[in-house]
Amino acid sequence: MSTVTFFRGQQLPLEMHKVRIIQKLTLLPIEQRRAAMAEAGYNTFLLQNVDVFLDMLTDSGVNAMSDQQQAAMLIADDAYAGSATFTRMHAKLVELFGMDWFLPAHQGRAAEHILAQALVRPGTVVPMNYHFTTSKAHITARGAEVLELITEAGLRVTSDEPFKGNFDVDALAALIAERGPDAISYVRIEAGTNLIGGQPLSLENYRATTELCRRHGILTVLDASLLADNLYFIKTREPGCGDLDIARITREIADCFDVIYFSARKLGFGRGGGICVREESLYKQLRGLVPMYEGFLTYGGMSVREMEAITVGLDETLDFDMIRQGPEFIAHMVDGLDRRGIPVITPAGGLGAHVDALRFLDHVPQQQYPAGALASALYIASGVRGMERGTLSEQRDAEGVEPLANMELVRLALPRRVFTLSQVEYAIDRIDWLYQNRSLVGGLRFIEEPEILRFFYGRLEPIGDWADRLVAAFRSDFGDSL
Ligand code: F0G
Repeated sequence: MSTVTFFRGQQLPLEMHKVRIIQKLTLLPIEQRRAAMAEAGYNTFLLQNVDVFLDMLTDSGVNAMSDQQQAAMLIADDAYAGSATFTRMHAKLVELFGMDWFLPAHQGRAAEHILAQALVRPGTVVPMNYHFTTSKAHITARGAEVLELITEAGLRVTSDEPFKGNFDVDALAALIAERGPDAISYVRIEAGTNLIGGQPLSLENYRATTELCRRHGILTVLDASLLADNLYFIKTREPGCGDLDIARITREIADCFDVIYFSARKLGFGRGGGICVREESLYKQLRGLVPMYEGFLTYGGMSVREMEAITVGLDETLDFDMIRQGPEFIAHMVDGLDRRGIPVITPAGGLGAHVDALRFLDHVPQQQYPAGALASALYIASGVRGMERGTLSEQRDAEGVEPLANMELVRLALPRRVFTLSQVEYAIDRIDWLYQNRSLVGGLRFIEEPEILRFFYGRLEPIGDWADRLVAAFRSDFGDSL
């Protein structure tokens, strides 16, 4: 692995690409940002993108595409059935993962829907290192329980542990001994824990966890949506893996699993998804659901253009220079925040920087959604849109009780190759200002709470007049700056 050393010893992530298409941005004055936040019910999902300066809500479907991806979109073979585009995508997945069977779906959660419909038996459990919102919703809707068996380091906000996403293999062994393998529909491993800091698993942990499952005849399912970052971390952090090329690490992981599904909005930098299956019998078990919910077996709800782009994007995932930009920019942002004393998840993971709202707003009780409040306050202070990943993103249980999340985070996703380093520095600067003024920020309460996936479209209001006081403090410190 070669890195560029700077003459004066600075450590900067250096992009191995250049930008040839740009999109103009606007930064509204803070008074208008405050009005936009109120209009959006203090839920950053409900902001209009024209009102957003730096959109760090997610990297899903908004990573910058390469020239090769754009070019491939022009030669897509448009056919309902049997298009050459699908054949190319299928062949690329076989090359990457070594599984012969592939079912396309319109995005990651559609793959989760199909897997849950076909494989989750009511009354069983689905152990996983950590849940993702949509994966959990599909499993619980089938009457099964999600059990999170992450190693203890995974739930610590700050740590030196390089693989905080690791599965707790001993806890899984104890669960199997206690309930028996038949009580488990399948074991799901998320390649990088989305909700708790995009933290990776080690290759060793993939092997140990799936080996245990295989001994007990338990089906293993990999959610590979965040795989690209995990590949980078295995290569750069795991002893003995530095010399392995990315294709080899990919195959070593894939060889552990019976099923691999993914959101191609993340893996492959397009818009789509699908399920790779090792055994034909299992493929046939899942197959009928694709035409029913997604589309015919050779497109599954995706456009042929997107499938071409994903195929090239999957291939580019094997290029270390392509996958390093994300984690290296994220590390730059996390280090910048950490150096200023701002509480943030360490070590830096994939996906984005994750600010710890429990410590940032330690005067706001968890019942008043500190991460939601911080995400709104940050938008008002900066025009940067982040995402609440805390109690708001949980769902109430069958009795209507609201579980308090293990962590209250504001995720600032860094869509790949989209932002420049000075934009990242701007975000750090405004978070720094907000941290110095944190005592001004108060909590939120629901004024409209949907039953399912409430974080997407629920509406809230500030408790007290903190939003106004924040605007006044900004004006007094920054004068007429935007
Ligand atoms: N699994 C993981 C680990 C994800 O991160 C996502 C999406 C999905 C499944 C669902 O895929 O969106 O294509 O239906 N994560 C997005 C995010 C939404 O913002 O983190 P999808």
